[in-house]
Amino acid sequence: MFRSKVAGVGSFLPEKVITNFDLEKMVETSSEWIIQRTGIERRHMVDENEGTSDMCVRAGNKALAHAGMTVDQIDLIIVCTLTPDYKMPAAACLVQAKLGARNIMSFDLNAACSGFVYGLFVADQFIKTGVYKNVMVFGAENLTRLLNYKDRDTCILFGDAAGCFIMTRAEENDPNYLMTAHAHAEGSLAELLWAKGGGTRYPFSQEVWDTGSHYMQMKGKEIFKNATRTMATACHEAMDAVNLKPDQIDWIVPHQANMRITEAVASHLDFPMEKIVSTVHETGNTSAASIPVAFDIAMQDGRIQRGQTILLTAFGAGLTSGSAILRF
Ligand SMILES: CC(C)(COP(=O)(O)OP(=O)(O)OC[C@H]1O[C@@H](n2cnc3c(N)ncnc32)[C@H](O)[C@@H]1OP(=O)(O)O)[C@@H](O)C(=O)NCCC(=O)NCCS
Repeated sequence: MFRSKVAGVGSFLPEKVITNFDLEKMVETSSEWIIQRTGIERRHMVDENEGTSDMCVRAGNKALAHAGMTVDQIDLIIVCTLTPDYKMPAAACLVQAKLGARNIMSFDLNAACSGFVYGLFVADQFIKTGVYKNVMVFGAENLTRLLNYKDRDTCILFGDAAGCFIMTRAEENDPNYLMTAHAHAEGSLAELLWAKGGGTRYPFSQEVWDTGSHYMQMKGKEIFKNATRTMATACHEAMDAVNLKPDQIDWIVPHQANMRITEAVASHLDFPMEKIVSTVHETGNTSAASIPVAFDIAMQDGRIQRGQTILLTAFGAGLTSGSAILRF
């Protein structure tokens, strides 16, 4: 068995920004309320001519440059997303073509906001078993097109972004590697956060359009409770698996859902907030993109450094959850 490690990291945030003040003009809300309840100040929105795959390409090229690799070295592309460009084919196939890769396995993985942790877990299996050596794992979302800008419960929370890790086979004695990964789902709670209409169960129709059931709908309070409990449990699961205590973790990079969720997770774990990467004020919740984007921002500003031990944890629709620890 081999081990996998992170060879390169890249991310992309679209230029266009929606501030809380912009939202004040669309729904009955206030910037003060949004900041107090979520910590979010702005979120980014992809250009109308671009989509999920375009954001992936921008993030992916940065990750390739960071890894010092070229696309012809890549064996597998996984795009973790709940907002692919089209219902078919997979966004990963579009990304493959736009990056200039040819003939390699490429697929989408939908585990909502936990997608990126699921993606790392899957990539690790392919690398561990020697099937593939270099895997691009994307977390990318175009959530602004899944939002009802008349629904103040959801439209204040989410934004667009993409992030990418290039996972590669680690040398035998390399101290840096993906130490452990875990993933779960509690499908009985799926209706707490979903987009019911417009799929195959309730295909697009006048009724779907009139009721807006193709937009994301959420029971915020229940999601909040589940998120804090589940992410803290997932962190413990990962630390227990590799016998690490919280004081041996340099950074936690949680899914960026909401500042209050992050604070509650820190308090459950008795972990200092100064060692938790938070970018939610700048990005809002970007679902599967949030962990690689936050990771890249913290790497670019010098907080995250090679050799550090980093815990990732996520929670999302499904209800999915996951965690991973890597020595970077
Ligand atoms: C959505 C969320 C911020 C709402 O916060 P909350 O404290 O639960 O707010 P409530 O729903 O209890 O609403 C409190 C009040 O604010 C109002 N309110 C709700 N949304 C509002 C908004 N955008 N602006 C202003 N007021 C709002 C409510 O109507 C309610 O008013 P009332 O007391 O007069 O009835 C919070 O539940 C949350 O963060 N949930 C998790 C969401 C999430 O992260 N989802 C993704 C997970 S991957």
